[in-house]
This record gives sequence, structure tokens and C-alpha cells, in this order.
Amino acid sequence: MKIGVIGAGYVGLTTSACFAHIGHSVICVDNDEEKIRTLQNGKIPFYEPKLKHLVTKNVKSKRLKFTTKTIEAVKESVILFIAVSTPPKKTGKPNLSYVTNVAREISSTMNEYKIIVEKSTVPVKTGEKVKETINLYNKNNIPFDVASNPEFLREGSAVDDFLQPDRIVIGVESKRAKDILLELYKPINAPILVTDIKSAELIKHASNAFLAMKISFINAISVICEMSGASIEKVARGIGLDKRIGLNFLNAGVGYGGFCFPKDLKAFIQIAAELGYDFRLLKEVERINEEQKQRFFNKVAKLLPNLKNKQIGILGLSFKPNTDDIRFAPSIDIISRLQTAGAKIKAFDPYAMNNAKKIMPNIEYCKNPYQVAENSDALVIITEWDDFKKLDLNKIKKLLKRPIVVDGRNIYDPKTMGKNGFIYQSIGR
Ligand code: UGA
Repeated sequence: MKIGVIGAGYVGLTTSACFAHIGHSVICVDNDEEKIRTLQNGKIPFYEPKLKHLVTKNVKSKRLKFTTKTIEAVKESVILFIAVSTPPKKTGKPNLSYVTNVAREISSTMNEYKIIVEKSTVPVKTGEKVKETINLYNKNNIPFDVASNPEFLREGSAVDDFLQPDRIVIGVESKRAKDILLELYKPINAPILVTDIKSAELIKHASNAFLAMKISFINAISVICEMSGASIEKVARGIGLDKRIGLNFLNAGVGYGGFCFPKDLKAFIQIAAELGYDFRLLKEVERINEEQKQRFFNKVAKLLPNLKNKQIGILGLSFKPNTDDIRFAPSIDIISRLQTAGAKIKAFDPYAMNNAKKIMPNIEYCKNPYQVAENSDALVIITEWDDFKKLDLNKIKKLLKRPIVVDGRNIYDPKTMGKNGFIYQSIGR
């Protein structure tokens, strides 16, 4: 099938490459000329495992093309995905102007029946707005359908999440749109849930809100574990083995980050308020998440009461492993607290340092974890990259000025660390 994807960010690019991979013909559009040039030259503007291979392979086989002109995608495709960003406004509400601009552009250039599909995360009832916009500029009364097909892609495993999803959600208003979208996803083996457009839109926000709630819940339990002497991993496993709860997303840590959960929670709280519901549960989820970062800083501050001129070594800057994304990463908050207290920061991250340098220039960036440990008063683990799980602990201990390790992701065993002579603190144990 012929597909146009407007937006070549994490979602748009992954969607484009994966649809091409399963045999469709895809035109991916972005108005950022530099980004399109980069993609046309076979380069990916961000780090995402497996994506480069898929892009290169499908560009070669001519199933995937990049352009800056929306009109090219509109002319050649039946299905048009809107995958542009919906950045938060000051109020927390998402800015939908990019979405409506694309809808306007599609509308004024469409030549025959089209399905315009919302892929970006949007508030419930955005479909109505998209439809209104299209109607406004649809001078020749070309038939069209609007649909919602939310993405559930995690950064770091977006390709696998697309090709082996837990479910596919399609929100439609007509049989025509439903049949075409079911055909589109035929090569993917997953349950498909067909709903109305508003329900599909809501499923996306509700899913992210639920996952964030699960993380804040386990982080709150980790505090009670610390206060009572219980162990968070045992408690998480004990509750997670109940199939109704599930084992996933019960890792206590320094709090969730990234460009999805913090932004989507804020947006969902706002949208609910506008509809007349005060979503206090989600406000509390946010509060616990903020508090978790403060608590983590307190652990370091307690071990090193006078942080002025102390050197703190940070391992991990990205908001989670396998991505170079540092947007709303807990590392930013924790480093800023340490710097405000007078500490000097050395840091290493396998992929995120280029992005980090742009917003945190006052850090000494290192070539590896050992350089970070050298002469540091404490080593602080913020992201659980695999590389950090197999460090030479003897070497680390010799390099550190004091044998202090504060582990925000519980990647080391407290007993082993104790035996190796470390003063070791982690989360909820
Ligand atoms: C999230 C959702 O998982 C995707 O389903 C969704 O499509 C995406 O947002 C989106 O809306 O686009 P992502 O932000 O890439 O994906 O990352 P997650 O793997 O969900 O992790 C989010 C944060 O939660 C990270 O900071 C991670 O460290 C933290 N986390 C996750 C925990 O602290 N504990 C856990 O047990 C799991």
C-alpha cells in the first residue's frame, strides 16, 4: 500500500521504516531540510537500535523515500499519518498547531480519497479538530476519513515494539477506513482493537498515565522498604507475580523521565480538568516522581554532608538505556541539585553525551566510567546501561577518592558491594 508519513522524528521515522520493512511503499516528510538531507545520505539523526539498518535497506529497495514536500506524499498515498510533534505549552497542554497545519496542508492538496491518521499523541477529541480543519480547506469536496492509530513505541526498542506489538489500536468512523487500516497491518501478528476515534485517542494517554503510575507506586513502596528494612526487589517480584499486576514496570529508581511520560501526564491532567475532572491521582504520581529525584540527591548529600568542591562522578545521562535522549532525564535534575550544592561533576554516557553537552556545559565529560571514577568523592549511577553492570569493581575502588557508590537503578548487589569494601546506597534496599 502507499503511505505518507508526515514527521521524521522518533515516531515518524520508525513508523516509516517499519511500514516499508513489511512491504509498503512509504514517503516520509519533514520540513527540516537538514534532517531530510541527513536521511537521504543514509544517516539517522538520533540513536535508535536497528533503525539505521531498516532505513538503509528500504531506501535501497526504493520502498522508502524522504522529502520536504508534503504534497508529494499526499499525491502518491492513500493513507497519510500525522506524526509531527505536539510539544507542551506553558500550561502543560499540548500545542496542536503542527498537527492542524499538516491537516490543512493535506486538505488543500488532496486529489482523491484519503485517510488521515493521527499517530502523534493528542488529546481526546483532536480527531474532531482535524476533521474540521480538513473540511475548511477541502474546496473540491474530496472524500476523506480521519482515524486515530496511537503508537506504543518505547525509545530504545521502537523497531521491535512496532513489529511485535502487544496490540494495535485503530480508531475509525467508517468501514472503508477500517478495512484499509486492517489491510495495512495484515503482515503484523498482533491483536487489533478497533474503536471509535475518541476511545483510541484516550487509550494512548491512559496507557502512559497507567505506566507512570506503576513507576511512582513502586518508587513510593521503595521508600517504605527503606524505612522498614524490607527489600524492594523482593516486594516487586512478590506483587508482580500476581498476573493482574504483572512484573513489568516495577523497577524502582530515580524516577521516570523522557519526552513522553512527563509531558503526557501534564497534558492528561489538563485535558481531564477541561472536561471537568480533577485527576488528583495523576498529580500525586507526578509529585512522587519529583520527590524521588530529591530523595536520591539527599542520599548523596547524606554521605557527603559538605558537597562544596566535592567531585561527583555520574554514570548515565540519558533518561533510560539504549537511547541518546536526555529530554526530561532525571540526570538533569540530580546534576543541577549537586551543582547548586557546590559539587563538581564528571560524567560518562555511552550515547547521550553530545546531547548533554548542549544543555549541561559545566560538566567534565569523560571517555569511560573509569575516568569518571578517578579522584571522585562518590560514583553516582543514574542510568542502567549494560556497560555499567560489568565494571571492574577493584579498579573502580582504587580510582575513587572515597569508596562511595550511590546506585539509582539497583544494578549492583548490596552484599557484593559491601564485601568489596564500598559504602553502597541504592533504592529501596
Ligand atoms: C513510553 C511508553 O513506554 C511507550 O509505550 C510510549 O509509546 C512512549 O512512552 C510514547 O508515548 O511515545 P519511553 O518514554 O520511550 O516509552 O520509555 P519507557 O521505557 O516507557 O520508560 C520511561 C521512563 O520510565 C524511563 O525514564 C525509565 O527509566 C522509567 N522506568 C521504566 C522506571 O523508572 N521503572 C520501570 O520499571 C520502567
